[in-house]
Amino acid sequence: MQLPADHRQFHDDISPDRRAPSQAEDRIIGRVVACSGSRATIAATVQGPLAGAANPWVVGRLVSISLGGSRIVGLVYEMRAQQGTWDEAGLNPIAVEVELLGEVVDGEHGAARFDSGITAYPPIGAPAHRIRSRDLERIHDLGQRKGVVVGTLTQDAAIPASVDMERLLARHFAVLGTTGVGKSSAVALMLRKAVAAKPNLRVLVLDPHNEYAHAFPDSSVRIDAGTLDLPFWLFRFEEFADIVFRGRPPLEDEAEILRETIAVARSRYRVVPAHDMARDLGSSVLKRPLDPAQRRPADSAGTAELASPYRIADLFAAIDELIGLHEQRYPRTTLRSLRVRLETLHADPRYGFLFAHANSMETIAPVIAQIFRVPHKGRPITVFQLAGLPSEVLNAVASSLARLAFDLAMAGRGGYEILLLCEEAHRYVPQDQALGFLPTRQAIARIAKEGRKYGAYLGVVTQRPGELDPTILSQCSTVFAMRLSNERDQQIIRAAIADASASTIAFLSSIGNREAIAFGEAVATTMRMRFLEQRPEELPAMAGRAPAEAERRELLVEELVARMRGL
Ligand SMILES: Nc1ncnc2c1ncn2[C@@H]1O[C@H](COP(=O)(O)OP(=O)(O)O)[C@@H](O)[C@H]1O
Ligand SMILES: [Mg+2]
Repeated sequence: MQLPADHRQFHDDISPDRRAPSQAEDRIIGRVVACSGSRATIAATVQGPLAGAANPWVVGRLVSISLGGSRIVGLVYEMRAQQGTWDEAGLNPIAVEVELLGEVVDGEHGAARFDSGITAYPPIGAPAHRIRSRDLERIHDLGQRKGVVVGTLTQDAAIPASVDMERLLARHFAVLGTTGVGKSSAVALMLRKAVAAKPNLRVLVLDPHNEYAHAFPDSSVRIDAGTLDLPFWLFRFEEFADIVFRGRPPLEDEAEILRETIAVARSRYRVVPAHDMARDLGSSVLKRPLDPAQRRPADSAGTAELASPYRIADLFAAIDELIGLHEQRYPRTTLRSLRVRLETLHADPRYGFLFAHANSMETIAPVIAQIFRVPHKGRPITVFQLAGLPSEVLNAVASSLARLAFDLAMAGRGGYEILLLCEEAHRYVPQDQALGFLPTRQAIARIAKEGRKYGAYLGVVTQRPGELDPTILSQCSTVFAMRLSNERDQQIIRAAIADASASTIAFLSSIGNREAIAFGEAVATTMRMRFLEQRPEELPAMAGRAPAEAERRELLVEELVARMRGL
């Protein structure tokens, strides 16, 4: 083992002017002076006026510690000047703390591989080097798995940052970070790459800020309050009741009457055989009727009830019949109150999408064709613009969409894959079990827990990971952690990171826009990266950047209040 070069020479070696690029990597830049298993301390010296770019000692970077046949990869997480002062003219001894992430082992014929975990620890005096760019590449190389490039490494922008798209989708993912760091832009980028890589994939974006349609003008359809057709009969009872009672707990009797009369109205409607539905679709997906064996028991969390139509007129008639009964089963006032409630709903133009075409629709097929893109006609992405919808229906809409996405993937038996992308996911699946809408929570949880088997995938985006249901987050096997200033949010990420590189999380409060620490199943090793720069026309349009769109629709007071609160 060599002794460290003398100080003068050391300084010259890392000065940017004198350094030949091919030589730089293997120069000794420090020595291990302490090691405690997973961590080590490196002693080095730094010339007073050293320019930033030439200084290899930056928190967050990887360095290499040579052990002869192998090189240990260390992550710099802390450092200090030994004297606690800085000598501008001379050499400053520094102590650098590194976390040992794994090792690169040279194989035969120049082949090398990276293993996380350490088999041989560095002895005192082991030399530290700048990491070789080939090693850096190898550490993040997906090997046999097919990588899709979504960015570049922060440490070396010449090295692509790839993700395993199959795993990213199939094992669910989360994008977390403060507002404005680039979450939505990164999501738009990944969605574009995902549909390019998987021709079978459909994407349904729950878009609370009406921003995503801008990013995919040619590959998406936009569904908003004006173009939406979601017949009232398609909702599960709990969902429809949430609309009818405007999100408030229904009065016991009224809910009971609603349930009973819906059943009556359904029974009066001609039952549509499943094969008609498949014919209407004109697609191979859903050609087979649903296999009863695959249907879930009625009492389980997400009942796969295949919505059958009924007429609103039959519903009113059924209520009227109850009102006309000699022997009253329910108080007349309660019956009338429910009828008025339904009439008001029916007459309200803001709820037109529930009723406009409901009676002319014989099956659920047109809804599936429009929203779930069967066939996709070159537009596999559906941008579901929630901002213009009455806020009272958001719960029921999100719940029914998540539920249908799952049922459809299940019915497609591998021929249909769908990613449900939830922006502001903490609103649908809040950490506080008392908040949120139970059917939405159940439908999203079902995708998170079982979706993979059937091709239903979940992507969650939130600026408040602390307010997101931790069981949902724990089902997201790949996480892109972007800047998070809140200590509690950082704790959550720290708890979620399984591998040893937990000190990476310490940087979360200081990383730049577009930057992320990617960890989990879709990456080879925890990866500090920067998402590819998108052209302005590829970005989601924030409300602020698209005044035309924002002006055209009416603002809701809830939305204004939410904006004022920075939600
Ligand atoms: N990958 C990117 N390429 C180009 N610009 C970006 C990118 N990511 C973020 N930006 C810029 O940052 C702004 C905020 O990004 P956005 O994705 O809306 O953040 P968030 O969703 O986290 O609030 C964008 O309007 C854009 O100007
Ligand atoms: Mg956003």
